[in-house]
Amino acid sequence: MILEAEGLYHVYESKAEDGNVVALRGLHVKVAAGEAVAVVGPSGSGKSTLLKCLGGLMKPSAGSVKLAGKNMTRLTGMELVELRQKTVSFIFQEGNLLPHLSARDNVAQPLRHQGISAKVAHQKATEMLERLGMGHRSHAMPKLLSGGEQQRVAIGRALITNPRLILADEPTGALDPVTSREVLSLFKDLHENENVSFLIVTHSKEVAAFSDRSLELRDGRFVAEHGTNVNVEDLSEGRELIVDEMGTVTLPPDLLVQMGGPGRYTVGQVDSGLLNLVGETIEGIGELVLAPSCPACRFKYEDEETQLCPSCGSSRPMVEA
Ligand SMILES: Nc1ncnc2c1ncn2[C@@H]1O[C@H](COP(=O)(O)OP(=O)(O)O)[C@@H](O)[C@H]1O
Ligand SMILES: [Mg+2]
Repeated sequence: MILEAEGLYHVYESKAEDGNVVALRGLHVKVAAGEAVAVVGPSGSGKSTLLKCLGGLMKPSAGSVKLAGKNMTRLTGMELVELRQKTVSFIFQEGNLLPHLSARDNVAQPLRHQGISAKVAHQKATEMLERLGMGHRSHAMPKLLSGGEQQRVAIGRALITNPRLILADEPTGALDPVTSREVLSLFKDLHENENVSFLIVTHSKEVAAFSDRSLELRDGRFVAEHGTNVNVEDLSEGRELIVDEMGTVTLPPDLLVQMGGPGRYTVGQVDSGLLNLVGETIEGIGELVLAPSCPACRFKYEDEETQLCPSCGSSRPMVEA
């Protein structure tokens, strides 16, 4: 296992009126060496928080993270920095580059941090930029590069240390379709030919399809897992529900709608290894339909089917008709 996390919780503390935010609610994640895993889910579900906790950029409120077999939560500051430098690289949606350094110097910087001489670091950075088709932009400052070019430099910066794991937070989110395909084919090459592991937060069908499996996050819990080739626009296909160690099963909202909505269910056939949920009508609750507007941002839905708010990404709840 390149990455192994157990019982991750994260709470953002706040003195404001709405109080603390529980962003992660007891997650277990394992990524095998050479595996590519996608994390999908609406905005606010905890994806970025998860990635930061897994990569050691943020200390989770509870739980443990093992990177390359070493328990990060037990390491001292220096040991942690060293383990991170050797093992993992981050790619964010935007803002990966230091604005005052040229493309080449941005790529060289992680090597300089490892104490490698400027001469060697610059040479390696130049080779990396050439490999990424960016050799001609080596001396350009970030603000003069297009979004796609900046992201390629960011990838060069992430790859220069030969990481075994890449943690990427919507790496193609700010790119046009052509550039994002280029970035993805680079990831594919690293995945297939160099056994690099990936954990990628994404909304993109292509990225999710490239991954070996996808984990679906809702409100800080994994609710389901999907095999390869998941279609993020139709998550109900080929989904495995996750039962946590407390016995909680969270139904993704689209399944909940298909099941007839919240209410009372009877359980049958457990003996035969099947969990058969049969809906019962509860008196007093009328027919349920998807809410006409988003409770979070007040967006007014134009149809009866959309599950996620196109404006803020929140799950659409059900309300009485
Ligand atoms: N720095 C922060 N302080 C307080 N709350 C935060 C902070 N960052 C994220 N949150 C909250 O934590 C939850 C998860 O956020 P995040 O991990 O960014 O989700 P995602 O990446 O899936 O959009 C959200 O409710 C968000 O508002
Ligand atoms: Mg995010």
